[in-house]
Amino acid sequence: MSAAPVVDAEYMAEVERARRDLRALIASKSCAPIMLRLAWHDAGTYDKATKTGGPNGSIRFPQEYSHAANAGIKIAIDLLEPMKQKHPKITYADLYQLAGVVAVEVTGGPTIDYVPGRRDSSDSPEEGRLPDAKKGAAHLREVFYRMGLSDKDIVALSGGHTLGKARPERSGFDGAWTKDPLKFDNSYFIELLKENSEGLLKLPTDKALVEDPTFRRYVELYAKDEDAFFRDYAESHKKLSELGFTPP
Ligand code: HEM
Repeated sequence: MSAAPVVDAEYMAEVERARRDLRALIASKSCAPIMLRLAWHDAGTYDKATKTGGPNGSIRFPQEYSHAANAGIKIAIDLLEPMKQKHPKITYADLYQLAGVVAVEVTGGPTIDYVPGRRDSSDSPEEGRLPDAKKGAAHLREVFYRMGLSDKDIVALSGGHTLGKARPERSGFDGAWTKDPLKFDNSYFIELLKENSEGLLKLPTDKALVEDPTFRRYVELYAKDEDAFFRDYAESHKKLSELGFTPP
């Protein structure tokens, strides 16, 4: 684990410059979905019992990005490398989480409070900490509770599937969850409640959210009240982006 970066006025100014560059990069490459997935996969390995994993940039190393769950994620890592070279002061851990926050913002999602200061680590966690899309509610709880997150966080964060799509050569699944996969809105939940969403993807873990009564209450709320979704999403995303991190 490297030392924590010194978050002084100069660091903050560099973060703002990187934020602007990220907005331009994400707009020009239409890569918001994979940036959000990168931020989530770096953070989502956190284990609160051992305080290992989490948003620490370790996903940049082959021993981690080669995990099956990370198929395709190298594209996002490579897109961000020139950004790191341009803003070397900013840690990878901070840069990846900033990219996630900007991806949500520029596609029309809520503003997420972002606090820099994460350390980089080269200790990759063992494979198998990210959720398996073929499983159900009990598995989702096991994985997200291990991070220290709640049922509400599970449903709100699953709304991240409003962006992007699955590809057969990566996950074995195929297709997008919503009709406009480059727009961050509550359509993921609206589609989830429909019996028949022709041509759209529902992973077993997505279906688990409507089958489990506790999860379903949040799905119903978010489908009818986009403001409630945006509020809860912004809060849960911030928690995810700060797992194991005490802001300076
Ligand atoms: C894509 C599983 C939670 C954001 C995917 C894919 C799978 C998956 C199988 C397709 C990957 C591919 O084929 O390229 C899961 C499971 C989750 C989960 C099982 C458990 C709840 C999340 C969360 C977020 C998220 C919490 C963000 C907050 C995304 C995005 C994509 C994606 C944006 C699209 C990436 C792209 O288009 O390149 N997810 N995911 N996912 N996931 Fe998740």
